[in-house]
Amino acid sequence: MSSPAFPQTRLRRLRRSGALRQLVRETHLDPSQLVYPLFACEGQGVRQPLDGLGDILHVSVDQLADEVEEIRRLGIGAVLLFGVPAAKDDVASGAYDEDGIVQRGVRALKAAAADTVVITDVCLCAYTSHGHCGLVQDEEILNDLSLELLARTALSHAEAGADIVAPSDMMDGRVGAIRSALDQESRGDVAIMAYSAKYASAFYGPFRDASSSAPAFGDRRTYQLDPANGREAMREIALDIQEGADAVMVKPALAYLDVVASARDRFDLPLAAYNTSGEYAMVKGAAARGWLDERQAALEMLTAIRRAGCDLIITYWAKRAASWF
Ligand code: PBG
Ligand code: ZN
Repeated sequence: MSSPAFPQTRLRRLRRSGALRQLVRETHLDPSQLVYPLFACEGQGVRQPLDGLGDILHVSVDQLADEVEEIRRLGIGAVLLFGVPAAKDDVASGAYDEDGIVQRGVRALKAAAADTVVITDVCLCAYTSHGHCGLVQDEEILNDLSLELLARTALSHAEAGADIVAPSDMMDGRVGAIRSALDQESRGDVAIMAYSAKYASAFYGPFRDASSSAPAFGDRRTYQLDPANGREAMREIALDIQEGADAVMVKPALAYLDVVASARDRFDLPLAAYNTSGEYAMVKGAAARGWLDERQAALEMLTAIRRAGCDLIITYWAKRAASWF
């Protein structure tokens, strides 16, 4: 396809007005494509702002009904629930306790609005005393023994009423282990959104402070992807699909838009991107100093993430963005 050159062709013709630009816009954002992360904590009447995350709160379970009400009013697609437990131990007991913080949170969300899509983050790191995403022995992260606990965790979320469970641990084989645990217990209708291409990234900083889940020793590089690798991300996604994932994710979003674009090219499942806490905090920090306009920067980023090819965006801007567009 070739078009004549200048002056017959003038690309500025279709940029002359807002209405023209709107008419030929290639990428659209809708609140239904956004997922809002929620952090449930212990206590009563708690609404505690998080360092670096500005307007994002830890809320106690009794406050979740108000959150869900706002999310519905704004037309946001789903919530992604994280737990901030009161206690941690070596085997992450709080993660799969049927009365754990997430399990109570899911029940509260579903009681407030049964039709709100509830996704739960499935991992051990917020519940382990050492802060790693799997079981640890002699400073090694044990893959296969962790699978059983991850599957128990996912099953307990499903039993509490989660629509989708989202494993973020990056152990090999977790999607298959979770799928068979769900199927064995007649939860075949609960979907899995896998954090498939989750990188060992600096852009999770504020989240880790918020959920006190930073590893006590070492780092997550033996299980999360090396930021240098794009082809390996395709292998992770392909394996998760083979193991039964219903949707896959790339995380973080902005530094990995090439990975989002390749994944869109190769796979036909719903594709999510996680616009992480560090990506949010950078803009918040710069905006607070007057260095850029938060609204413009956020909308540009969210548009770019969609343009790269993902269907869903998990973002701390979900509420604000929904009110902006
Ligand atoms: C835990 C988890 C993390 C995030 C989501 N789930 C942190 C990590 O892997 O260290 C990051 C979320 C964010 O930064 O917004 N497995
Ligand atoms: Zn984790």
